[in-house]
Amino acid sequence: MRAILLVALLLQAQIFAALAAQAVDQATTLDRPPALAPGQAPPLPTPGPLAEPRSSAQVGFPAALTASVTPPGTQTPAIVALGEKLFFERRLSGDGAVACATCHDPARAFTDGRPTSIGIHGRAGQRNAPTILNALYNKTQFWDGRVDTLERQAALPITNPDEMGSVSIEDAVSRIAVDQDYRSQFTQAFGRAVNQQDMLSAIAAYERSLVSFDSPFDHFIAGDAKAIPDSAKRGWELFNTKARCNLCHALLDNQRDVTLFIDNDFHDIGIGILKAGVDALAGHAQRVLKQQVPLDVDAAAISSEISVLGRFLVTRRPSDIASFRTPGLRNVLVTGPYFHDGSMQTLWDVVDHYNKGDGISDPWLDQDMQPLALTEAEIDDLVAYLASLTSPQYKKLGEEEYARQLAISKTTRPQRDTARAFGPKHPPPPPPF
Ligand code: HEC
Ligand code: HEC
Repeated sequence: MRAILLVALLLQAQIFAALAAQAVDQATTLDRPPALAPGQAPPLPTPGPLAEPRSSAQVGFPAALTASVTPPGTQTPAIVALGEKLFFERRLSGDGAVACATCHDPARAFTDGRPTSIGIHGRAGQRNAPTILNALYNKTQFWDGRVDTLERQAALPITNPDEMGSVSIEDAVSRIAVDQDYRSQFTQAFGRAVNQQDMLSAIAAYERSLVSFDSPFDHFIAGDAKAIPDSAKRGWELFNTKARCNLCHALLDNQRDVTLFIDNDFHDIGIGILKAGVDALAGHAQRVLKQQVPLDVDAAAISSEISVLGRFLVTRRPSDIASFRTPGLRNVLVTGPYFHDGSMQTLWDVVDHYNKGDGISDPWLDQDMQPLALTEAEIDDLVAYLASLTSPQYKKLGEEEYARQLAISKTTRPQRDTARAFGPKHPPPPPPF
């Protein structure tokens, strides 16, 4: 086992080293995404330096972990290059207009900047597009963890009628199989003709090359005390103590986690309840439980109002109602708007939400949510800490976005509720069924 790991590690290191050198500070503007005419899909970004596979020579890069989540032999330069091309391939969609990159734009840290994504024919979905950066480390994919590998994940948007809308994967494959360039690239990468399995493997291999560390926070942890401002240092302390963020954004509760800020678990932190309300959620859940035919979770998650049930759609356990996967926090400054429904505009809103975090109306609220009594200065410190997780490619963009969010936060704090933040913890009401 150790030998296999070592080989994988060496391979990974070699490939990452062989890949394009890093350019720093490539993205410079984070304009709001363009408004779209009815029936129109968003424009497809062009692949640029930010789309390139990332080097492993980054401070904070978790070499052993990366090797353990990379199937041996999958990351050759030919396969990764093919995967990148496929990620930008609009012919994989039913109308030839939408590619993976439409919603996962490298210039926006592989998100789309919209509350919820818009796909083929301008169809709006129910969920916010997560970043692809560091998605290789997720134990499950999607906000509800409905698939467990990047290969299986990649198949779903291609045929989802509101995303890329191909009638079948075979149909999408047949459209690229007529292209001479793809034929020779598949032969070079896999030694055989264009086929579905290799296509999905190539996309996943490209995604596994998108590792993103080397942030000021990583330099701070590596010993450079000046890498982050004092406010971010205070924020990091709060994160692990009074603000209780580490209870979910860390692998273990009792040990500081400096790598991904995930727990591979699902929680209801009270986002869905804000829009849907208890009665609607309970009603949706009871209908799902009564349903005889198997549920198409992907279709429901992207396109239906029961999307708000989250993990429950996968497990059908009432305790999973409105639960979503704890997302990683790297580059979070440039991946807004926030949460599974993109309902919050700024990191100040996010922290305001946690600050009041009690169970006044949400029967399924995670027991680790409670009022935090964070002061305004402490909220600013937490935001400064989150901002320090921005990788160098997005430094300039992050500075602009920080200024933009700060300006909004000066006039608009829709989630701020000081009385609740400094009030007692209310036990959540009992579940309705
Ligand atoms: C129309 C917009 C859209 C397109 C096109 C699209 N995605 Fe996504 N992607 C999303 C949304 C929205 C989610 C979250 C959906 C959910 O959790 O239910 C997502 C989730 C993901 C995730 C899971 C990340 C995580 O942290 O859970 C990966 C990986 C991913 N997409 C890769 C791809 C690939 C590969 C393609 C092309 C084959 C693609 N996407 C096409 C919008 C899109
Ligand atoms: C009980 C577990 C839990 C705790 C405690 C917690 N989080 Fe989260 N966090 C989550 C989950 C789950 C989500 C996704 C929820 C959703 O979208 O419905 C999330 C989402 C986020 C997001 C949005 C990320 C994105 O890409 O949209 C940020 C930022 C965040 N958390 C920061 C924090 C901070 C800062 C703290 C401490 C003040 C904290 N979290 C405490 C579980 C938790």
